[in-house]
Amino acid sequence: MRFSSTIVLSSGVVAVLAAPPRNWGVALFNSYDTIDVFGVLDPLFYLSFQSQINLSLIAETMDPVWVRPYTEAANVHNSTFRFSINPTHTHGTAPEDLEVLLVPGGPAMLFDNQTATVEFVRKVYPNLKYLLTTCTGAGIAAQAGVLDGRRATTNKSAWTRITALGPDVQWVSPARWVTDGNIWTSSGVTSALDMAFTFFYEVFGEAMASRVEGTVEYMRNTDPCDDPFASRFNVPPSGQC
Ligand SMILES: *[C@@H]1O[C@H](CO)[C@@H](O)[C@H](O)[C@H]1NC(C)=O
Ligand SMILES: *[C@@H]1O[C@H](CO)[C@@H](O)[C@H](O)[C@H]1NC(C)=O
Ligand SMILES: *[C@@H]1O[C@H](CO)[C@@H](O)[C@H](O)[C@H]1NC(C)=O
Ligand SMILES: *[C@@H]1O[C@H](CO)[C@@H](O)[C@H](O)[C@H]1NC(C)=O
Repeated sequence: MRFSSTIVLSSGVVAVLAAPPRNWGVALFNSYDTIDVFGVLDPLFYLSFQSQINLSLIAETMDPVWVRPYTEAANVHNSTFRFSINPTHTHGTAPEDLEVLLVPGGPAMLFDNQTATVEFVRKVYPNLKYLLTTCTGAGIAAQAGVLDGRRATTNKSAWTRITALGPDVQWVSPARWVTDGNIWTSSGVTSALDMAFTFFYEVFGEAMASRVEGTVEYMRNTDPCDDPFASRFNVPPSGQC
């Protein structure tokens, strides 16, 4: 085990903090939501100046992964709004020592099941320290079976569709994010930031996390149960936030 630092408690006892996770991965697929991914990666990028972090961008193939309408039929206004990023690994070549995996959601989840990503999550989950899902990415984790019997949440405006993917999951609403063991799940899109910062405070410690919170001038919601979108999208209360 690696150790990063020690702190002296008020009792005079010297406590040793476990090193923050170093090997991070993101499971990408076409038509992911940008903030689901970069809401977590942008502050993590600044954390990488304070702590050694390596990042793997993992997709089914090495082809560029696009933000764009999932099908041309969905592009009714003929918008040319699309951009891509390049994976660093495929599902087959992903590092075996991944510690944290982020699974985003996005419009793709409304059109199709991300079967290859589901298989990847099922395969790597047992070796992870933490699994984070943002937005409808919880549907992928649910289909991989890793949320069975656990508390989780997801995009409130896609609630019915995504919760149907995990009948054995204890879906929680209202909830901006939910933690159960080593799995963290957030509600829609920007809730990823509140979940991510809470996670960063926990694994990197207050000094590093609050420095980055200042760097990106983020006004964090620290209450995981503060979720106005549950009632806005008529999601019936379920589970205990
Ligand atoms: C990240 O760093 C760890 C520890 O140095 C190393 O074992 C791993 O191979 C690295 N992963 C990548 C993708 O570079
Ligand atoms: C989009 O393109 C199609 C095919 O060229 C055309 O039929 C349609 O009118 C266009 N729609 C808009 C909103 O411009
Ligand atoms: C959240 O759900 C709504 C309704 O289904 C959908 O329009 C939206 O794209 C979803 N957000 C993401 C990022 O998937
Ligand atoms: C996705 O999976 C669910 C549950 O297995 C299934 O009911 C649904 O038809 C699938 N959707 C698509 C588009 O394949």
